[in-house]
Amino acid sequence: MSSNPIFCAIDTPDLGAAVSLAERISPHVGGLKLGLEFFIANGPQGVREVQSALGKDIFLDLKLHDIPNTVAASVKAVMRLRPRYLTLHTAGGLAMLKAARQAACDAADSVDAAPPKLIGVTVLTSFDADDLAQVGVPGGVSAQAHRLAALAAEAGLDGLVCSAHEAKSLKAEFGHLLRIVPGIRPDWAEAGDQKRVMTPAEALREGADILVIGRPISQAKDPADAALRIAASIGCAEQPLRSDPS
Ligand code: C5P
Repeated sequence: MSSNPIFCAIDTPDLGAAVSLAERISPHVGGLKLGLEFFIANGPQGVREVQSALGKDIFLDLKLHDIPNTVAASVKAVMRLRPRYLTLHTAGGLAMLKAARQAACDAADSVDAAPPKLIGVTVLTSFDADDLAQVGVPGGVSAQAHRLAALAAEAGLDGLVCSAHEAKSLKAEFGHLLRIVPGIRPDWAEAGDQKRVMTPAEALREGADILVIGRPISQAKDPADAALRIAASIGCAEQPLRSDPS
């Protein structure tokens, strides 16, 4: 069994719901992704409570973007929560990305923990070419995403958030950067608002390293069973499926 690449996105401000979900799915996932919605509602103490219910890695999706000094200080402050992954906007620029990396390394020594893997967000999937042009970026989404991925690599970041459809080409070009992939749907789940989805197994074959999966687990009638089925589909189940006769 290889290590479990499934990170369940818990997109809720409700601490009780997040803790309950964390307890139920813990055996079947590699960790949980908590975003801004949760962090603003519950703060660092909320993250600690989910972390202790889960007993596994936390991916803090805070998408930091500010002047280098402020982002470095934020990275340092967040280190006390020992997140495994932390996101920041690559559009913040090379100096900001380098400052974040330096802060993570410096703070890791002082809290005696490994620095978080710093993960760059390039172009949000809610943006199209017109949206980019409106904020002064001509040339389209792909060129901008590529430009920003190169910046992440130059700054020494650890990975990128990307769609499964971009994973292969990013792997070819920036092979050392982890590919963190949302938009994952098992074939039994509804796509919802995700437009270009892939199954967990397909995404891994395309070069994904971490699979961010939200509603197919969190909104399932039985989230633990959904997580177990997904883990089994990629050979990461720690226990057999209930319907599995073995
Ligand atoms: O419920 P679902 O599986 O669609 O959740 C995917 C998660 O990944 C959500 O937290 C969403 O905000 C996040 N995400 C995404 N697409 C991106 C970046 C992040 O769906 N490009």
